[in-house]
Amino acid sequence: MNRFSNDPRFAGIEPFAQKVWLSSPTMHGDEQHWINEAFRTNWVSTLGANINEVEKQMAARLGVRYAVALSCGTAALHLATKLAGEKLYGQPRTNEGALQGRRVFCSDMTFDASINPVAYEAGEAIFIDTEPETWNMSPAALEKAFERYPDVRLIVAAHLYGTPGKMEEIRRIADAHGALIVEDAAESLGAKYKMNGEWVETGTLGDFNCISFNGNKIITGSAGGMFLTDSGEDADKVRKWSTQSREAAPWYQHAELGYNYRMSNIIAGLVRGQIPYIEEHIAQKKAVYERYKAGLSDLPVRMNPFDAEKSRPNFWLSCILIDEDAMEPQTRGETTYEYRSVPGKSCPMEILDAITAFNAEGRPIWKPMHLQPIYRSNAFVSTDDGVDVSADVFRRGLCLPSDNKMTPDQQDRIIDIIHRCFR
Ligand SMILES: Cc1ncc(COP(=O)(O)O)c(C=O)c1O
Repeated sequence: MNRFSNDPRFAGIEPFAQKVWLSSPTMHGDEQHWINEAFRTNWVSTLGANINEVEKQMAARLGVRYAVALSCGTAALHLATKLAGEKLYGQPRTNEGALQGRRVFCSDMTFDASINPVAYEAGEAIFIDTEPETWNMSPAALEKAFERYPDVRLIVAAHLYGTPGKMEEIRRIADAHGALIVEDAAESLGAKYKMNGEWVETGTLGDFNCISFNGNKIITGSAGGMFLTDSGEDADKVRKWSTQSREAAPWYQHAELGYNYRMSNIIAGLVRGQIPYIEEHIAQKKAVYERYKAGLSDLPVRMNPFDAEKSRPNFWLSCILIDEDAMEPQTRGETTYEYRSVPGKSCPMEILDAITAFNAEGRPIWKPMHLQPIYRSNAFVSTDDGVDVSADVFRRGLCLPSDNKMTPDQQDRIIDIIHRCFR
């Protein structure tokens, strides 16, 4: 029993017998083969054919010279951010970070793993507001941030929900200020962007690039991530750091801090089995997005936006943004929320509660970093119009169940539930 069972708006709707997920792993069978190969040959640690093969295949697929397989996307982002810091400011003392006391411009509406590495390396994240056209870092706010903090030399930019951000503008601004870019393509593997007239993959647009194979991503290794680069020197450095920074000596010799961040050959087996299905998964996610777009077109909501001229998202998550005048009263504390149902209106938390009550998984929009308790005292730069776009998208937006295995019937029922929220 829940509040929706007795709500006449939802009369006649049955809960899903099997949970409909936000974005769950999709196995095909090939994964098991490569895992078994690792067992059969006893290459079950952080060396082996699966690792070599996924590095080769992903580099070729994305169009970079080197891919370094790591334990997760967060590890890739940490080492990418550390490398950027060392390039800019030199090798830190062992008990200091590579960004010690330095400011870094960061995407504001992203998962915190994108930007935590700035703090791991003792830097200070300055959050850059979001633009409404792709829900990514606003180039106009970035320009403004450089006016205010001209000494900054590093930008960490993510592509939210699989939609490429405005990387051409961000690159132009970075170049004008001699800044480097760490690109977080964890959510956007397989998405393409038109950079200077040429279609390229996300994960190749920064100076240091990262992807993730986390369980909810477009393909998964159950875990895992990669650092992507055209620089052999950078690839060697990241590989060395990820395996405890051993120097070439007969004994354990260390001249730099090390990490245990390398991908295992078992995880790599899973990734190897998934790589052939990237395009299939993207096509399924795109169909989910388009079905929502059509099914919700009569409601006062819009889908998460993208620039059709310049980008081909991977449609990892489908989201909605409710029109301001269709928002019923909704308040959120740090961990609690309230709303009041109003006929003809709804709000993200009501829709989320309704979806959950019928056994499907949605998720609030990622809470912006400048609103997070740990980063609340960090600076936040928005554009001159005084609108906090990140906070607004968080307030009015919602991630819908976007599983590529959701059937059209299941999705129609979710679309129906959303309609009933607006009754
Ligand atoms: C934008 C973004 N960055 C980084 C990560 C971290 O990746 P991982 O979970 O592989 O460490 C994730 C998701 O998990 C993410 O969504």
